[in-house]
Amino acid sequence: MKFKGIVVLEFNRKVPDDLIKELPKIIDYLNSKLLTKGVRDLKEAGRVIDYQASENKIEFTLETGRHVRIHNAALRIKNYFINNISPKYKIGVRNLIIRNALIELEGKYTVSLKLPFIKSIEAKDDKTIILLQDISESEIKKPYIDRLLKLLQEKEARAKWGGKAEHWELIKQSQVKFPKPKFDKDPNKILEEIGWIKRFSIGQWFFTPPFTYLINMLKHFFIEEVVKPLGFHEAIFPKMYPLEVGLRTGHLKGTINSMIFASFPISYDISVYEELIDYMYVTDTAPPEELQKYVKPPTHFLCYAQCEPFYQFFSREVLDDKNLPVKMYDHSGPSFRWEAGGLHGVERVIEFHRVEVVWLGKPEQVVDIRNKLLERYEYLMDKVLDLEWRWAWVTPWYYEQAGIVEEKREKDINKPGTIDFEAWLPYKGPREDKKAWLEIGNISIHGTKFTSPFKIKHNKGIILWTGCSGFGSERWTIAFLAQHGFDPRNWPRKPREYVESNPIPEPIRAVTYPKTETGKKLLEEIMNYFKSLKK
Ligand code: SER
Ligand code: ZN
Repeated sequence: MKFKGIVVLEFNRKVPDDLIKELPKIIDYLNSKLLTKGVRDLKEAGRVIDYQASENKIEFTLETGRHVRIHNAALRIKNYFINNISPKYKIGVRNLIIRNALIELEGKYTVSLKLPFIKSIEAKDDKTIILLQDISESEIKKPYIDRLLKLLQEKEARAKWGGKAEHWELIKQSQVKFPKPKFDKDPNKILEEIGWIKRFSIGQWFFTPPFTYLINMLKHFFIEEVVKPLGFHEAIFPKMYPLEVGLRTGHLKGTINSMIFASFPISYDISVYEELIDYMYVTDTAPPEELQKYVKPPTHFLCYAQCEPFYQFFSREVLDDKNLPVKMYDHSGPSFRWEAGGLHGVERVIEFHRVEVVWLGKPEQVVDIRNKLLERYEYLMDKVLDLEWRWAWVTPWYYEQAGIVEEKREKDINKPGTIDFEAWLPYKGPREDKKAWLEIGNISIHGTKFTSPFKIKHNKGIILWTGCSGFGSERWTIAFLAQHGFDPRNWPRKPREYVESNPIPEPIRAVTYPKTETGKKLLEEIMNYFKSLKK
């Protein structure tokens, strides 16, 4: 990123000849000291390459790098004149303007012409040149320019790093428990065949009582063995968020392409909708294009990361030592992600369920809670569910979901970052195949990623951190079934005892349901396995 432009200083009277004579010396000083101050790489500093004095103005033509950017250079020059030149020549600085400023970026980018200050954009060779309108001193001081430059810098960084594979580094894994898999079928297919789940709409399923029972079993173990022993309490978080929340978390910038938005009706008066209602009555169709005329622009989005309301709740609140740490979990409703393509069974869907665990505290508390959760997670995966699992240190979800580019990642897991939990799906192939592993959850330390934009404060000014962990209910259930199968007699002790003391509900049977004869037969077989375990 390079800048060029003319910094114009306007004075309250004609520039005296003596000052004009001194200009080469002043410019020497600017170039060797003032505009290089604090800069390691001189390419990133500022430099006056030409100047001109006429009437009551001095115009400096500048070239600058990304460290002393043109507007920073302009302010440095102005302050230098006020403090050093004005007293000597009895001349006041009346105005500061940046004219014909241009920003040169490596690579080709599209930037909206609607952004403040942008006059035009040109692509030249492998560069993008952005011409700016004249910028006044009050505008130089506004955060818009810095944000515009930050945006451009991020675009450059994304182009440079964005194409690289995401970070993934194994940190721990279970033993090989099933040298020969106990089960090798796709549980999604069996569940559909025996009618425990039924496709509802794209990426959405209806879970009948027996599958709901299984999901609840997995959630039960997670909540009882991991979450509650560590003192987390259940809360009910909203599942539809105002756009403002997505601006603070960064989701609107990073995942706008996979969020589902909600629109309110234009009126509460039903007579307003008469024409549309009549149309639907006569045609027996519900035309989305017509409906669109009767709803307001979207003002909300549906639950995406599930912990967002927690940060919003504490936004602008001040906590003190005795209030900390705060620990909550929520499993009151679904999350939504519009996953274009690649939908598979209940593993990859648009509407999914999860237990979201969130905590807030001082950095050492947040790290400690994360570590205690990890211990309990390991106990759950190994001892209770007897799964083949592995953990990886990955690109943090809160970076990914905010579109932030991370240039490098150190392997110090007691710092902000995300650990993904994965389980082996034997039906998808051998353990060596990356595609045979399913991400079933994650756990993160966010650092100040949320406490800072949501302004969550400590009364003594101590920095607060947050952490969260998502337990993907469908995915844990699929992973469990994929490794242990549908015969609870072959399950580990605790799940088997769960089935013994909580009888599975009767499945839905109809003349036409399950759909196939094989499905009907398999259903009875599986029901018999479950019933044979009844106490
Ligand atoms: N909020 C985290 C995520 O979206 C954990 O569930 O991945
Ligand atoms: Zn979260």
